[in-house]
Formats: sequence, structure tokens, C-alpha cells
Amino acid sequence: MNSKQIQESAAFIQSKLQAEPEIGLILGSGLGVLADEIENPVAISYKDIPHFPESTVSGHKGQLVAGQLEGKQVIAMQGRFHFYEGYSMEQVTFPVRVMKKLGISRLFVTNAAGGINENFQPGNLMLINDHINNMGTNPLIGPNEEELGPRFPDMSQAYNKELLKHAKQCADTLDLSIQQGVYVGNTGPTYETGAEIRMLRTLGGDAVGMSTVPEVIVASHMGIQVLGISCISNMAAGILDQPLSHDEVIETTERVRQDFLSFVKEIVKTLP
Ligand code: 6GU
Repeated sequence: MNSKQIQESAAFIQSKLQAEPEIGLILGSGLGVLADEIENPVAISYKDIPHFPESTVSGHKGQLVAGQLEGKQVIAMQGRFHFYEGYSMEQVTFPVRVMKKLGISRLFVTNAAGGINENFQPGNLMLINDHINNMGTNPLIGPNEEELGPRFPDMSQAYNKELLKHAKQCADTLDLSIQQGVYVGNTGPTYETGAEIRMLRTLGGDAVGMSTVPEVIVASHMGIQVLGISCISNMAAGILDQPLSHDEVIETTERVRQDFLSFVKEIVKTLP
């Protein structure tokens, strides 16, 4: 993947759009419904976009949806590419490069995650204030394209402080109780063992999932302001005496759908 491919993908998408998007949205498992709220939607299937990989996981649609949300120009990924599906880190993060090329300056990343913090409950929404890259690799490994970003990017501001503050104010406005914490990115596709979850808790993790970290690293590399929201779909292993299942993940995200939708819409609507 190089700048030429980013350029070709972006040019194709641009030819279908009516306006330049300012906010990118990556919608995780069970959270794709947010794209249905976009007005004057232009939907573009990933399979039609040059150089885009194709999405495979159930609960993911595999398309971009661009249009207006609460009066702002947005472009949403309804379904993302996961490392565990076998895509390279470059492929996983390619759409973020393309969205930047299309003009976004802000990226909202969402996911379903397992709760590590024992004060959390399934159905909670958690603002991500930091992450731990536990994927054993990094999407920026390889030659650096200086025109995209620096060789050694700062990650201390990866989750934008202003956006976090704004999101917290929106939660207050809506009287929505919200958690905040550190997202651990694991490769999956297995869920963790109880021992692994105890380790991640010791390391400072509050929630764990199989996405988000690569996209945030690449967004941060390009100077995009990131807001991250995890839907705690289940407690991680060893907290409750029950096995984890993808069905539970989908069921919980469906249950909190309305809170999630209202929250993101309020954040977008009142964005400074
Ligand atoms: Cl418990 N672990 C991981 N890695 N991803 C998840 C999860 C757990 N729950 C939802 N997604």
C-alpha cells in the first residue's frame, strides 16, 4: 500500500461524494446501526473500492456510508478489517489513510470490548483515554512516508483531550453514566484466558478487544484527532463464571444501541 493506492481509492470515493467529510466513523461489531442515521447517504461497498480489502465477519456490513449526521459531513465504515481475519496491518489501517485523504480531521472509533475492570458492567459505554498495543506488531513498521507523518510519532496525545472532555460533557447532558479507561488491543481471534485477563488488569487495562489500536496508531501518525468509544459487551474471562460468546457481544450491543446512538449523535451535534 503506497500513496498512489491511497490516492486511487480516495479519488474513486470522492467521485461518488457530494461533499468533503470532516469526521470519520469506524463502527464496530453490532454498532453499524449508526450508519443508518446518516442523511442523504451514499453507500459504497468495500468490494467496489480499488485496493480495499473485503470484510468477512458477521455483524459487519462492509461498506462506507457518507452523508450528514447532525448537520456534519461524515463518512462511516460499517464494518472494519481485523488483523485476526488475516489482513496485514497495512490493510487493516488502509481505510484510515484513505479517509484522511478524503479530508477528515477527526476520527471516532468504536468497538465492542470485554470488561477487565471489575467495576464495569456489560452494556456500559467506555470512553477510551489510552490504549495498550498488545498485538505484537505495529502498523507503522516499514519505510516511513514522510508526507503522511513522522518516523517516530508521539502517542501521548493519541486520544484527543478536547474530544474526551466534550464527550464527557455530552454524557452529562444526556444523563448517561459513562466509564473511562484503557483499551487493550489483542490480536484475537481467541478470547483471553482468566490468567491473561489478570495479567492485563495488572498492566492497567480496563477493557480488551481485537481492533482499534492499529487504526488509532495510523490516525495519530497523520495528526487526526481521535475519540474512542468501547461498548462493554461482556465481562472478560475469570470475572463471571460463564463462557464468552460472540452472540453475547452482539446481544449486548443491540441492547445498548439507543444509548450509543444518542451519545454519538450528541457528540457530533455539539462538536466545538
Ligand atoms: Cl473478552 N476479549 C477480546 N479480545 N475481545 C472482545 C472481548 C473479549 N469481548 C468482546 N470483544
